[in-house]
Amino acid sequence: MPQRYGGRVALVTGAASGVGRATVLRLLEEGARVAGLDTAPVDTGGVFDGVLGVRCDVRDEEAVRAAVDRVAAWGGRLDLVANVAGVASYAHTADVTLAEWDRILAVNLTGTFLVCRASLPHLVTARGAIVNVASLAGVRGWRYSAAYSAAKGGVVALTRSLAVELAPSGVRVACVCPGSVDTPLKAALRPVPDPDPRLLEHGRALVDPPVADPAEVAAAIAYLGSAEARFATGAVLRIDGGSGV
Ligand SMILES: NC(=O)c1ccc[n+]([C@@H]2O[C@H](COP(=O)([O-])OP(=O)(O)OC[C@H]3O[C@@H](n4cnc5c(N)ncnc54)[C@H](O)[C@@H]3O)[C@@H](O)[C@H]2O)c1
Repeated sequence: MPQRYGGRVALVTGAASGVGRATVLRLLEEGARVAGLDTAPVDTGGVFDGVLGVRCDVRDEEAVRAAVDRVAAWGGRLDLVANVAGVASYAHTADVTLAEWDRILAVNLTGTFLVCRASLPHLVTARGAIVNVASLAGVRGWRYSAAYSAAKGGVVALTRSLAVELAPSGVRVACVCPGSVDTPLKAALRPVPDPDPRLLEHGRALVDPPVADPAEVAAAIAYLGSAEARFATGAVLRIDGGSGV
């Protein structure tokens, strides 16, 4: 295992589950001090020795500001922010309520913006990095996912714009676009009623098994957040088993 994060402090949102949890573990293995932010309790398995768990809803502007400042004070610096928290649902677009549209946009896109904005002063000081988790649905069309794909497309655009704006200050910004990942989020997704059979194979991965382990996404996040990725600022990296090729 490379040791790219010795002496570094990382903040991971969505740390209680799935990709976020795997990212915490990966960064710990690479020598980081890690804070995990989530609405759910972080470290239910008791394996996050030394991790600072912070209960926070990424939609809450003031709570995010307080949480980020608390993490920076705890760590004495902030080198990496991994925006992993997210929610998803499937629906025929005609059935998407405004409340559901707003919920998906608020967590995935506005939450990412709020955490980025609150972290900026600390990241500029540390010449650190942001890695956002978008989705394959943010870079190609995806069935029955209008709100989610719009939110994740927004995360991709936000990533690129921040990468440009922050380059002179030495802060790098990149994102990963996972395809299907074996997590509670995926397990909880309910198929829509009456799907068009022509769409069901759309976007299927080409490798076997056709679903990623969360650790495979965490490895990409750890790379993009590290100094090894100095020249990869603005990168939009699909981790999708070839389904978006
Ligand atoms: N699983 C997949 O197939 C897949 C594919 C592409 C992208 N993604 C993205 O990967 C990221 C991680 O998803 P996952 O599959 O690990 O899901 P997950 O449900 O296992 O984990 C998501 C975590 O985010 C937290 N969270 C949700 N809303 C929050 C909020 N408002 N504030 C703070 N924390 C909140 C949840 O409590 C949970 O711990 C998400 O952004 C998701 O959109 C997942």
